[in-house]
Amino acid sequence: MKRIIKIGLGLLAIIVVIQMWSCQHDPLMSDDDSMMPIDTMTMDTMTIDTMQVDTIPLGIPCDPDIIYFSKDVLPLLISNCAFSGCHDADSAEDGVILESYEDVIMTADVEPFNLDDSEIYEVLVDQDEEERMPPAPTERLSADQIQIIARWILQGAEDLNCDPSLTACDSTSVSLANDVQPILNSQCLGCHSGAAPSGGIGLDSYGLIKNVADNGKLIGAITWSPGFVDMPQGGDKLSDCDIAIIQGWIDEGTMDN
Ligand code: HEC
Repeated sequence: MKRIIKIGLGLLAIIVVIQMWSCQHDPLMSDDDSMMPIDTMTMDTMTIDTMQVDTIPLGIPCDPDIIYFSKDVLPLLISNCAFSGCHDADSAEDGVILESYEDVIMTADVEPFNLDDSEIYEVLVDQDEEERMPPAPTERLSADQIQIIARWILQGAEDLNCDPSLTACDSTSVSLANDVQPILNSQCLGCHSGAAPSGGIGLDSYGLIKNVADNGKLIGAITWSPGFVDMPQGGDKLSDCDIAIIQGWIDEGTMDN
């Protein structure tokens, strides 16, 4: 009997030590998100059960030199091409659907590593105003946006993924021109610019952006809050960092900076 109690106490002691050990790590690591590709919980499981190593999904931090389809290319296509009457699944003009990686690869004539043979790139830079996409009178994509699609093709037109939350997010001292407008340009302006913007809401000038920021609709729509229409329409929610940047710009006084 005594022996059993001793073993029991011994086990208890071991459990307590393990518990304390794993607790000590957490606060140390969670201070800095960028240092957390693997959390300590995962490490514990890895040492206990090596079979699981392959199946644990480790987030990959985003490499600024790599173009990621879902993060960089798809938002441009959703905002500029994949809507009703054009290249959503229902309209599929010319058989081209630009709503997902699979659709793009199957329907948009993408030739990895080769711009000249990639129709999806050719139409963006076509000198013929009748042929180019998006069609006039809609403006051409900006040079930066065309670059993103070109680099994606030249990198092999793959569907690589990364986890933006592993990259440090700076949402202080936000600049409208350098931080906020690039997000709106790639994710929103395809629908919210020009003479007849979607929902009557333009986002292509400081005054217009400030309007929707001041009336609460901007944050309501991008945080998918009840009572607002979820934006970007038909696309994924903005990353937490993009939302924090826009919120930061508003908190700092919606300046034209
Ligand atoms: C594919 C087209 C499309 C894209 C991309 C898009 N929007 Fe919209 N947006 C719309 C349409 C259409 C409406 C009107 C919806 C309605 O009233 O039902 C709208 C409405 C809104 C509204 C008003 C919402 C409300 O509840 O009153 C805001 C604010 C808005 N969009 C902001 C954005 C922002 C910011 C982005 C980019 C992150 C974006 N939109 C991307 C099409 C789009």
